[in-house]
Amino acid sequence: ARQAKIRNFSIVAHIDHGKSTIADRILELTETVSKREMQAQLLDSMDLERERGITIKLNAVELHYTAKDGETYIFHLIDTPGHVDFSYEVSRSLAACEGAILVVDASQGVEAQTLANVYLALDDDLEIVPVINKIDLPSAQPEVVRQEIEDVIGLDASEAVLASAKTGIGIEEMLEQIVHNIPAPDGDLTAPLKALIFDSVYDDYRGVVLSMRVVEGVVKPGDKIRLMNSGAEYEVVEVGVNSPKPIKRDYLMAGDVGYLTASIKDIQDTRVGDTVTHADNPAEKPLAGYREMHPMVFSGLYPTDNAKYNDLREALEKLQLNDAALEFEPETSQALGFGFRCGFLGMLHMDVVQERLEREFNMDLITTAPSVTYNVELTDGQMVDVSNPSQMPEVSTIKEINEPYVKATIMVPNDYVGAVMDLCQRKRGTFITMEYLDDYRVNVIYDMPLSEIIFDFFDKLKSGTKGYASLDYELDGTRPSDLVKIDILLNGDKVDALSFIAHRDFAQERARTIVVRLKDVIPRQNFEIPIQAAIGAKIIARTNIKAYRKDVTARIHTGDPDRRAKLLDKQKRGKKRMKSVGTVDVPQDAFMAVLKTD
Ligand code: GTP
Repeated sequence: ARQAKIRNFSIVAHIDHGKSTIADRILELTETVSKREMQAQLLDSMDLERERGITIKLNAVELHYTAKDGETYIFHLIDTPGHVDFSYEVSRSLAACEGAILVVDASQGVEAQTLANVYLALDDDLEIVPVINKIDLPSAQPEVVRQEIEDVIGLDASEAVLASAKTGIGIEEMLEQIVHNIPAPDGDLTAPLKALIFDSVYDDYRGVVLSMRVVEGVVKPGDKIRLMNSGAEYEVVEVGVNSPKPIKRDYLMAGDVGYLTASIKDIQDTRVGDTVTHADNPAEKPLAGYREMHPMVFSGLYPTDNAKYNDLREALEKLQLNDAALEFEPETSQALGFGFRCGFLGMLHMDVVQERLEREFNMDLITTAPSVTYNVELTDGQMVDVSNPSQMPEVSTIKEINEPYVKATIMVPNDYVGAVMDLCQRKRGTFITMEYLDDYRVNVIYDMPLSEIIFDFFDKLKSGTKGYASLDYELDGTRPSDLVKIDILLNGDKVDALSFIAHRDFAQERARTIVVRLKDVIPRQNFEIPIQAAIGAKIIARTNIKAYRKDVTARIHTGDPDRRAKLLDKQKRGKKRMKSVGTVDVPQDAFMAVLKTD
């Protein structure tokens, strides 16, 4: 009987279309959180998320809604991350639901990333409740957007809720539609336990806390459980729901969404997508769709102060406890000393990790330019994976370098198709096809090297289309590529941390741009510093940093004490982010200079 009252759903939305605000309104209207204790955007629990306004970690909240039919329903609202870096997590959290609310901004319309998530939801046979949000905006065009949802996504939008999360219009109607349009879960209570893990976080007191959807069976404290893909076994300590604070329950049954703790210390045992079953009465097969997470972007992280190496290791270990996608291993650089090569899902993930290390662990870091993993075939038939450009084998030993490719889908208004194609072409893309979605929108699909997509492609795409284009991509194998390693020499010394990989056709141009950029970011010192770029022993670009003549700081008026303090502080911070490489002081910016392609 309880099962019939449950509604499990997610909110699917493009970044900024109002997902968090809608979630807040739902929490308010169901009185899950009183207005007074309502902290804006409660679902995004990490500080960093709140500050950046992006959703990274998933969360599930239980709410109670008394509908117009007089019945009280149990809602489980499952949060999904909105960024392209985290699409696997999105697919797992959708798999925990029977329905999804699709939020579309009434002034922006449907965007590519939204579309990708809607397709994930449709693949899982979820019932979709379309909501057109921000109808209070003067630029809102709800009827145009309604038509667009029908034309572009192919959903019936005749009943789409017109809402303003800002003013509260439409929120109740949305809750009624959830009750009536999203089916209750089914699932056999007497079958062997099958529960899908869609999130896991580490808690200092309870160990790993799993968020899961029970698909079949029942689980309660004291049960011996097994994680079907990792094989790890544990005894359940506690089960419960978040409402939004954790509330213990005696059991969780088929249809429920809640949490489970079992004194689990290693988050690697509890990867998102794995199936929980009973150790002594296991399910025959795990739930479908489990995928190992593979980082796509790698970069070196080095403490500016070499003595902090162990602190950095401890910080990374702690971060990994609630970020199973983060990988790292020790690495040494002649230029930077001891550090770690870290693997990330994408640039946003990398930024987030870096920022958390700096803020939560007080680390001062030098980050080297990110690289993808190249698959290199040597002349002796061996295959090696290279994710650190400085470790690219000697040219004479290489038979072929394969680089990862993606299928990139860019949704853009007609007017900007030319600009998008131009950009893709410059990024070594191969045009595949173009699909007209309606009278004014096109999906442009390109085959592109991953390395060209992950760095500044997204920014370039946004600026080239006045922000109108949106991007989604998926890995699509590797292709042989004519790539070369370019080394940078400062004052005659090769700086391994500045080496990078480029396509041969672009090598000269990239090398020239980079030596000039380095000249700008590396401060003058009291001797002239030649900067050279080389392929093997051949110098392909060079410039000089002139020696300085005057002490620049001596010219600053120090009359205003406030200003002076600020200046000193700035200098101190600037200094910390500097690394002596041989005889030259190199600032953090230099290591990222190789990213800037023009
Ligand atoms: P991510 O967490 O980054 O995925 O964004 P989100 O989709 O959760 O969007 P969020 O709720 O943070 O809203 C984005 C911006 O739109 C915020 O500045 C909100 O205040 C604003 N906003 C949300 N709903 C409405 C609305 O109905 N009307 C207006 N005018 N603004 C809204």
